[in-house]
Amino acid sequence: MDTYPEFKTTLTPDIPLSGIVKCTVPSNIALVKYWGKKDIQIPQNPSISFTLNVCKTETSIEFEKKQVSNEDYEFELLFEGKLKPAFEPKIKSFFERIEAYIPFLKEYVFKIETSNTFPHSSGIASSASGMGALAYGLMLIEKEINPDISESEMLQKASFLARLGSGSACRSIEGPMTVWGEHKEVAGSSDLYAVKVEENEIDSFFKNYQDTILLIDKGQKEVSSTVGHNLMHRHPYASQRFKQASENLSILKKALKDGDSETFIKIVESEALTLHAMMMTSMPYFILMKPNTLSAIEKIWEYRKDTGSKLCFTLDAGANIHLLYPEAESEQILDFINNELVVYCENGQYICDKIGLGAIIL
Ligand code: DP6
Repeated sequence: MDTYPEFKTTLTPDIPLSGIVKCTVPSNIALVKYWGKKDIQIPQNPSISFTLNVCKTETSIEFEKKQVSNEDYEFELLFEGKLKPAFEPKIKSFFERIEAYIPFLKEYVFKIETSNTFPHSSGIASSASGMGALAYGLMLIEKEINPDISESEMLQKASFLARLGSGSACRSIEGPMTVWGEHKEVAGSSDLYAVKVEENEIDSFFKNYQDTILLIDKGQKEVSSTVGHNLMHRHPYASQRFKQASENLSILKKALKDGDSETFIKIVESEALTLHAMMMTSMPYFILMKPNTLSAIEKIWEYRKDTGSKLCFTLDAGANIHLLYPEAESEQILDFINNELVVYCENGQYICDKIGLGAIIL
């Protein structure tokens, strides 16, 4: 069982009778990927990501003290305005995991209302923003119960809880960039929660970086991330991969500080392809890219060669492509997308996002 005393709190007898909290938490896109975990959501290697701004989950949690206390979790869940019993088991197992740290879970009846700014069937993972918003919302309730908790303690604990819901969710609470997983060169880094990359560690070249997501295939994911992570347990290249991720993080950290776009591009694209290479070389094996993913990648390389652009791509565990580029190139790159890449997108759809700052209280 996951027991970290530093995150445990005790319940005071005079907790509020009812209330409501509301927040938004964005998605994030990893540059060095988390792929492989042990125990309860402990990553096998450190990862680093851009926090996004447009793709996010808005969650409100209404809480009312139970009339008669019992040992059940009592909640209802509305997704995009409709009751979603199908999501309840996931919330219930999340509550079980975090109960040791959030002692008021059995004190209240909760009404959780949640919606995403991005289309549900876009193939964009909603677990990072969804679990992030639920965790952060619960911390807003904790803050009402225990007003002494500081801002930084709150963010850290929200990240800790979010990780127990979905690993990558812990990287969504703060921005513009966070690191999750112990790394000797990242002060304060931990396997338990993500830490923000200090502003002075990121050269102005990367400020306001853009992320345009090409929706190549909007279908349901063929491999759930849990199944995917498990494939790393008996993977022939696992230990070398975990070592490589740590090394890549060191190299990327320096590139971010130096404003070194060439190194940034090399590491980011190599990480994306390595993630997919891990899937292709596991047993069972998967190919999550689609023919259009490859066609678009070839176009991106061609465009970069022809124009000297700093555009690069990354992928998550699916066919969609995240195009990363500096704000100064936005106009030309949007032309390039509309002229050359949109044909590879399902129904011609893409989402324009950019780096953001994490959780917001509404
Ligand atoms: C490919 O965080 O979705 O996006 O911890 O099982 O919920 P669980 O997995 P999840 O895995 C994300 C994997 C990835 C890479 C990354 O975001 O680092």
